[in-house]
Amino acid sequence: MDLKKRVMAEKAKLTIDGETYELPVLESTFGDKAIDISSLRQRTGCVTLDYGYMNTGSCASAITYLDGKQGTLNYRGYPIETLAAECSFVEVSYLLINGCLPTENELRNFKGMMNKYALMHEDMVHFFDRFPAGSPPMSILSSMVNTLSAFYPEMINNPLEQIDKMAARLLSKVRTIAAFSYKKSLGQPLTYPRPDYSYCANFLNMMFDLPVSPYEVNPVIVNALDKLLILHADHEQNCSTSTVRLVGSAHVNLYASISAGISALWGPLHGGANQAVMDMLERIHLEGGNYKKYIDKAKDPNDSFRLVGFGHRVYKNHDPRSRILKKLCDEVLQTLNLSNPLLDLAKEIEEVALRDDYFVERHLYPNVDFYSGIIYKSIGIPNDMFTVMFALGRLPGWIAHWKEMWDDENWRIGRPRQLYIGPKQRRFVAIGDRKVCDERFS
Ligand code: SDX
Repeated sequence: MDLKKRVMAEKAKLTIDGETYELPVLESTFGDKAIDISSLRQRTGCVTLDYGYMNTGSCASAITYLDGKQGTLNYRGYPIETLAAECSFVEVSYLLINGCLPTENELRNFKGMMNKYALMHEDMVHFFDRFPAGSPPMSILSSMVNTLSAFYPEMINNPLEQIDKMAARLLSKVRTIAAFSYKKSLGQPLTYPRPDYSYCANFLNMMFDLPVSPYEVNPVIVNALDKLLILHADHEQNCSTSTVRLVGSAHVNLYASISAGISALWGPLHGGANQAVMDMLERIHLEGGNYKKYIDKAKDPNDSFRLVGFGHRVYKNHDPRSRILKKLCDEVLQTLNLSNPLLDLAKEIEEVALRDDYFVERHLYPNVDFYSGIIYKSIGIPNDMFTVMFALGRLPGWIAHWKEMWDDENWRIGRPRQLYIGPKQRRFVAIGDRKVCDERFS
């Protein structure tokens, strides 16, 4: 990734301790320019401080661009609305990982590799029996994905040589792991993947097929799941993707890097929000639908409650994914002839919140998690599997970023600096002479 050709004529100027320094400015294709501070500490003796990395770029990337002001999202230059309407999740996975949409032949080969690697080693299947009943599905998923590096050690030594095979294997196996963990949680017999089924049809069949009542694949549900996974497939340097990059930067294999990303996604402020939204809507519904109480709680500075599914670090306009999901909710419920009072409740909450100064002033709009759970629920997926579904969707994005990092000659092991505010040099005192420490929690 040659960044030299992106250096602009204009420089940034920084004056500190009476000295003025010029710093290079790098031009982007879209969006924020970047001030290159890679020489800052060496020239000024200073580091920057930016909690949550709200103003800090960790890398240059050609994968995804989202415009927080406009509320737009593009994967490899294609608008998310087009990809969700025209492509399958496997096609979009290929696009994110390889940088271009596949030809028919390339897609056939990619699908063939995914079918070839859909099964997991039978010894791994027994791992499921060792998780205690009620184990959190994200804990199982993260552990099992990390275990893949034990069963496929060739991954560890020459990670990039077989990236296509690894990517197809991971996309396919994680789908099987997710479905098997669900079946095991119910104590039901496992249904194995079928080569004649598409990615999503296979997942649904592995999740819901039973010897006594074979699952009937419904194209409406398959199409809805394809769209859901596409909408979750990537999102720039979000918390879990940055985790995959940071862990991968130590030259950790892909499986272990992805396992770390799954753990980061689990958080209720991140991917865990879709399950928290459903829990919140169900609680409001059970209490009689008084959502105004929760909107007031969310606005109360003394109440830690937040309106889950609202707000976003980057979007200060509608999250385009939320708009598509809101429409998809209606389509799926109508086509399946289902009604869900939680959808009406969610729409009412959105309508009231978007007229309320508190939310308007803070640019808090529904994000990807606000409507997704209603669709998952309507196609039979339980609340505690929602974040697993987010991980299934985000997997191609994580793989694409891990690969881009390995390919980037600018990349090095991630090791941020800090502002040290601890005690000065202290005199050591033998244990018998020690008094109560007055700087214990400084
Ligand atoms: C995802 O990064 C990504 O791209 C993530 C993601 C992806 O695809 O990877 O898009 C997926 O993680 C979506 C977000 C899911 N999380 C939630 O829905 C949890 C609820 N949302 C919030 O916790 C919050 O909005 C965050 C975490 C999403 C964003 O947090 P920020 O950017 O750190 O914003 P902030 O906490 O500084 O909030 C700014 C202000 C604060 O009020 P003031 O102190 O200015 O008075 O907005 C308020 C916050 O209290 N606020 C909310 C709120 N979110 C922010 N108030 C009530 N309800 C909310 N949901």
